[in-house]
Amino acid sequence: MFGISVVVFVIVEAALVYAIIRFRKRPGDGVEPKQVHGNTRLEIVWSIIPAIVLALVAVPTLQTLFDLTRPAEGDVLRVEVVGHQWWWEFRYPDILDAEGRPLTTANELHLPAGKTAELHMTSRDVIHSFWVPSLSGKRDAVPGRDTFLKITPDADVAGQVIPGQCAEYCGLSHADMRFLVFVDAEADFADWTMEQTEPTQIPTDGPEAAGYETFTQICTTCHQAVVVGDAGVDVIGTAFGPDLTHVGSRSTIAAAVKTNTAEHLAEWIDSPVSVKPMAPELNDLAAGRVLGMPDYGLDQRQIAELVALLEAWK
Ligand code: CUA
Repeated sequence: MFGISVVVFVIVEAALVYAIIRFRKRPGDGVEPKQVHGNTRLEIVWSIIPAIVLALVAVPTLQTLFDLTRPAEGDVLRVEVVGHQWWWEFRYPDILDAEGRPLTTANELHLPAGKTAELHMTSRDVIHSFWVPSLSGKRDAVPGRDTFLKITPDADVAGQVIPGQCAEYCGLSHADMRFLVFVDAEADFADWTMEQTEPTQIPTDGPEAAGYETFTQICTTCHQAVVVGDAGVDVIGTAFGPDLTHVGSRSTIAAAVKTNTAEHLAEWIDSPVSVKPMAPELNDLAAGRVLGMPDYGLDQRQIAELVALLEAWK
């Protein structure tokens, strides 16, 4: 379209400049220009030319539109993207753990470089919009609908971490609904999926074990984790909030708002609404409505134990 526009621009401007110079008023020239109003032949010509130009522009436009809405062919990586107030859930329906559950993570999307990823999007609550400016255009995540976006990160961006942002106003923490896209070399992506599909260990002693007690009493109200202990593999909790199985392996917390350090985790557990604006007092789990993480009033020792547990869950 840009090429066609340039051609039209050059022709129109050349005709304009030519007419201005060639037919400008000269000293002693008192004659009115020749009037061409009502010239049928001219009017037909300048109606037909734009029609032809628009028809030409329509060909690549429609081709691109159809291409964008066609599912990718061949070897693609499917990812399910779910927008939540105010975080992102990423599921890989074709990458399963030993029990057949899809790899599930939050706020940090890993994509292999050079391979097409087909992102299917929906939302749990209101309309969000998935946007990674340097990788692709925006795509709305709409409740009750399945929208999709194809992204093929170039092979030469392998190793880069690209910031993304929710681009549709979705309430209190819209500006803090961020995420990261890790473009991995093929081998790194394979390693990552291997780690992420393993269950995480139930700690047996130390502060982590005490933290696990608190986790199973409080955090599992909204968070899920796949754990393994003497009794084998178990899925604990409810999936209202981000899956925490490998939370320690993520580089950020709170939807990519804070780096994942012990200090930030403690801050977040101690007073979530002071880290980002949320409205947990409006949570109604029975109705499936979650508007943020509540402050459970844990003491400093309990928080430190929980942080030790979450940091250990790589
Ligand atoms: Cu989600 Cu803005």
